[in-house]
Amino acid sequence: MNKRLTEIFSVLPDCDTFADVGCDHGYMTLAMLKAGKCKRAIISDISEKCLQKARELLSGYILDGRVDSVVCDGLEKVGKCDLALIAGMGGEEIISIVKNAPHLPENLVLQPMKNVDKVRVACVEAGYRIEKDYVFFASGIYYNLILLQKGEDKLSQEEIEFGRTNLLEKGGDFKAMLYQEIEKYKVFLNNDSLPKESRAEMQARIEKLERYV
Ligand SMILES: C[S@@+](CC[C@H](N)C(=O)[O-])C[C@H]1O[C@@H](n2cnc3c(N)ncnc32)[C@H](O)[C@@H]1O
Repeated sequence: MNKRLTEIFSVLPDCDTFADVGCDHGYMTLAMLKAGKCKRAIISDISEKCLQKARELLSGYILDGRVDSVVCDGLEKVGKCDLALIAGMGGEEIISIVKNAPHLPENLVLQPMKNVDKVRVACVEAGYRIEKDYVFFASGIYYNLILLQKGEDKLSQEEIEFGRTNLLEKGGDFKAMLYQEIEKYKVFLNNDSLPKESRAEMQARIEKLERYV
């Protein structure tokens, strides 16, 4: 597993039935079973071709009845599970999966590629509490990882924008991500032809980000 998958694996809690939604290669399910972190698993993907890769990887577990596989959109045909992972998809896609799920698991772990703020809001609206929400750096990219458990929650505007754990712990990868954004805006500001309004917006954004680093 690469660094991104290794980080995700490290936060997945033990469970009975693990659902790997949009599993593609199936590496996470293999790691969960090998480590004894789940008793059984359901692998799913919207693409038959992608799911086939995971079926091949997990053929032994499928034969002994510990893994079921299903082609479907999101959690549509996944059935009951107590932990679902949805990783490597856009935030809007993840929100649509959560909103349309016939059964939502007790625990959800999400790694959205975009629109993480919208994902936070949608999950709390769907009845989840954010247990952990942080940024990590892997292979040149900053990723957001969100651990949720069923329950009530209320997010501040800051938590929606930056992530609860990032604000509490101000981790090194979170700060480095903010520095990167600040540097990007500073480069734009060096451009003399930048319209006045855009310049003011960027300066305001820099000032805001600098409060968190
Ligand atoms: C970039 S891969 C990520 C694979 C793996 N989850 C990971 O994090 O490495 C995205 C996978 O999600 C699948 N996918 C995209 N939209 C989906 C949906 N609505 N329901 C199920 N699978 C979906 C794609 O077919 C693809 O296999």
